[in-house]
Amino acid sequence: MKRDFISIADWQTEDLERIFALTAELKEKQKRGETRPYLGGKTLGMIFEKSSTRTRVSFEVGMVQLGGYPLFLDTRSTQLGRGEPIEDTARVLSRYVDGIMIRTFAHDNITEMARWASVPVINGLSDLLHPCQVMADLFTVLEHKKSIRDLTYCWIGDGNNMANSWLNAAAAFGFELRLATPRGYEPDAAILEKARTRGARVLLTNDPLAAARGAHVLNTDVWASMGQEEEQQKRQKDFAGFQINQETLQVADAECLVLHCLPAHRGEEISAEVLEGPHSVVFDEAENRLHVQKGILVTLLASG
Ligand code: CP
Ligand code: NVA
Repeated sequence: MKRDFISIADWQTEDLERIFALTAELKEKQKRGETRPYLGGKTLGMIFEKSSTRTRVSFEVGMVQLGGYPLFLDTRSTQLGRGEPIEDTARVLSRYVDGIMIRTFAHDNITEMARWASVPVINGLSDLLHPCQVMADLFTVLEHKKSIRDLTYCWIGDGNNMANSWLNAAAAFGFELRLATPRGYEPDAAILEKARTRGARVLLTNDPLAAARGAHVLNTDVWASMGQEEEQQKRQKDFAGFQINQETLQVADAECLVLHCLPAHRGEEISAEVLEGPHSVVFDEAENRLHVQKGILVTLLASG
């Protein structure tokens, strides 16, 4: 049976750990210049309804490094943009490609695609979740801290797609996650409740410094995500003070890591000083999108 990668919550912790182990192996091999066509002759259709630098390039390059072939499908230049239903697109693409990656607005577009596609579907970001990014974040923490568990994670800013995926990660790995958001910008209530039911230790607060105190990982994201451009000005006011800066670092663990999925708005959710400073691992994190997604691609596509 095909498997999709739509949400971290759909996967068992052992399977996520297997993906990390495979990622480490693939990364090491690639650094040594060893190539193996794990996905020789396989194709990945990559549907983009929103902009992307990292997701597009890392999936595209990842497929090539694995001996496969990626197809960039911009919704504006495919029939999807002219209203062809997802159920038809999913069935047609399944006749051509071995996997589908989709970045879209409504999360339902992804679940609908997965329902109709007979090939694996990967979530390359929706308004609700960004699981590939959080997998890369976790792998980056694993590399720097040797473990994902037994650490305190702090999220400062919007309770957005990234924050929601972090809730799923907290449930999978049992670490403490503290989210500091302005009132009205909390993460998705249903995801929060489900994560708590699964044993996630989550603290919600409106106080960024309280969330950051003693934390081993500080993480943030833009105040206005893709699709929220008209809210930018209002959000700039509402999120004042929800910034990772030197003051945040002073209360966090002395060896803390700073994550940001990028693109970053220096001076808004993060100060330039911290983004470029010694605690920041944001470029390792961006690189790890490539390696983790290769792990996911091999896991989903190699056997089919
Ligand atoms: N972090 C991330 O998903 O970046 P892109 O929007 O550039 O793909
Ligand atoms: N939350 C951001 C992440 C971008 C990678 C957005 O959805 O735009």
